[in-house]
Amino acid sequence: MKTLRCMIPVPAVLVVLILPAVLGAQSLTPLQQLGKSIFFDSNLSVNRNQSCAACHGPAAGWTGPDSAINGGGAVYEGSVAGKFGNRKPPSAAYATPSPILHYLMEKKEALFVGGNFWDGRATGERLGNPAAEQALGPFLNPAEQALPDSACVVHRVCTAAYPVTFEQVWGSTSCDIAWPADVETACRSTSGTVGLSPADRAKVSANYDSIGRSVAAYEASSEVNAFTSKYDYYLAGRAELTKEEKKGLNLFKSKGKCAKCHVLDPGPNGEPPLLTDFTYDNLGIPRNSLNPFYYSPDNPAGTAWADPGLGGFLTSRSDYAAFAAANMGKHKVPTLRNVALGTESGLVKAFAHNGYFKTLYGIVNFYNTRDTKPRCADPLTPEAAALAQGCWPAPEVAENVNTSELGKLNLTKDQEDAIVTFLKTLSDGYIP
Ligand code: HEC
Ligand code: HEC
Repeated sequence: MKTLRCMIPVPAVLVVLILPAVLGAQSLTPLQQLGKSIFFDSNLSVNRNQSCAACHGPAAGWTGPDSAINGGGAVYEGSVAGKFGNRKPPSAAYATPSPILHYLMEKKEALFVGGNFWDGRATGERLGNPAAEQALGPFLNPAEQALPDSACVVHRVCTAAYPVTFEQVWGSTSCDIAWPADVETACRSTSGTVGLSPADRAKVSANYDSIGRSVAAYEASSEVNAFTSKYDYYLAGRAELTKEEKKGLNLFKSKGKCAKCHVLDPGPNGEPPLLTDFTYDNLGIPRNSLNPFYYSPDNPAGTAWADPGLGGFLTSRSDYAAFAAANMGKHKVPTLRNVALGTESGLVKAFAHNGYFKTLYGIVNFYNTRDTKPRCADPLTPEAAALAQGCWPAPEVAENVNTSELGKLNLTKDQEDAIVTFLKTLSDGYIP
């Protein structure tokens, strides 16, 4: 919904974060370096076997790096074997510019913008920074890093041998906490609690927020939000797009309608485009029959489970619950930066919140023909079979499907291919 974009308040910090990052890596600040160490530290999980990067690998465009997983259920196993969340990891890059979750009234409808996660539940309201709040989730999520107590994360960060330590960034006494002798016994189980005095507990809480802020600072650095794609160099006048790439770009903006949500406009101060407007939509994506959550003991609904997306989060908030029904099945518009990164060397990637799509061609064809091809008889038909049979399965969530901006684009096969070619210009690390 492009018209909205001018109304999104862009925080002043964004300008500071993005401008120096344009077209070139800088060295990290101490805060960013600390965040980087935390991001890549597998010790920060209950079995010391999983870091953020396990599900957000740089070479995969900061999303899931495993072809076998992406090609199937697309949901990553947590630190504890057999524990699964229910969604595909989105990119951890270009998530930091998302504003605090809020809504705008448009044609008597509340239009939600911002936040982190597919459903916006890391709102940013508490810390003023959705990415900082997001980063506090995975360490304690039983389906992810699964530590039982934020004190475990703080203890392991305070005692880690990082090149830049927590105390160097957050104060020389910040880690002065009287840890109980059995702290690590508690942290090796998924249900332990670390016994602390009220004063030390308060210190742990403050430090935990600082850990989130450190990770978010790294995610906002030029190492993660690099803005070094061929398209960026093209915008800066330092690279030429091929004829096919230009054709794809033009279709992306016009007949394909992609730029209505994956916006190509620069920010208000000339910041490079983010390829998202941070709004939410239900595209009518089919179920991914291999989603391990369907078969998890944590999900009594089995394959009948449908991801409520933003609407599910809104029901949990008394101030937003009235808007929940109109937002069932909607997910955040993801950035398309790095969407193809890794595929050129054979990595299989998964696309959309449940990873139903395994190819960029498949998702583009879906935008083009969702409403013109017949329904597949089996609602669990995977992408490859649906493409071969010339049908699309029913949407995962039937309510609120967007029929005005996609579904019947009348693109030719050549035009679909050109859009895919353009998407490949969005991968960082291009050398002009
Ligand atoms: C086991 C896999 C896994 C691990 C480990 C993991 N993530 Fe994620 N990440 C996900 C999934 C899945 C989502 C989407 C979840 C949702 O929307 O409910 C996600 C969402 C995100 C987002 C939101 C992006 C956006 O545009 O809204 C960011 C940022 C992120 N993760 C960063 C991190 C950081 C930082 C860590 C480490 C502290 C981490 N992740 C650990 C799987 C993982
Ligand atoms: C109405 C807004 C809208 C329009 C128009 C739109 N998209 Fe999207 N796009 C989304 C949303 C929302 C998602 C995530 C949906 C979900 O996961 O359920 C998405 C997901 C994607 C993804 C998957 C990215 C990932 O990391 O998983 C790709 C690729 C994509 N879109 C490309 C395109 C292209 C190409 C076009 C034009 C042909 C287009 N989009 C038009 C809103 C839109």
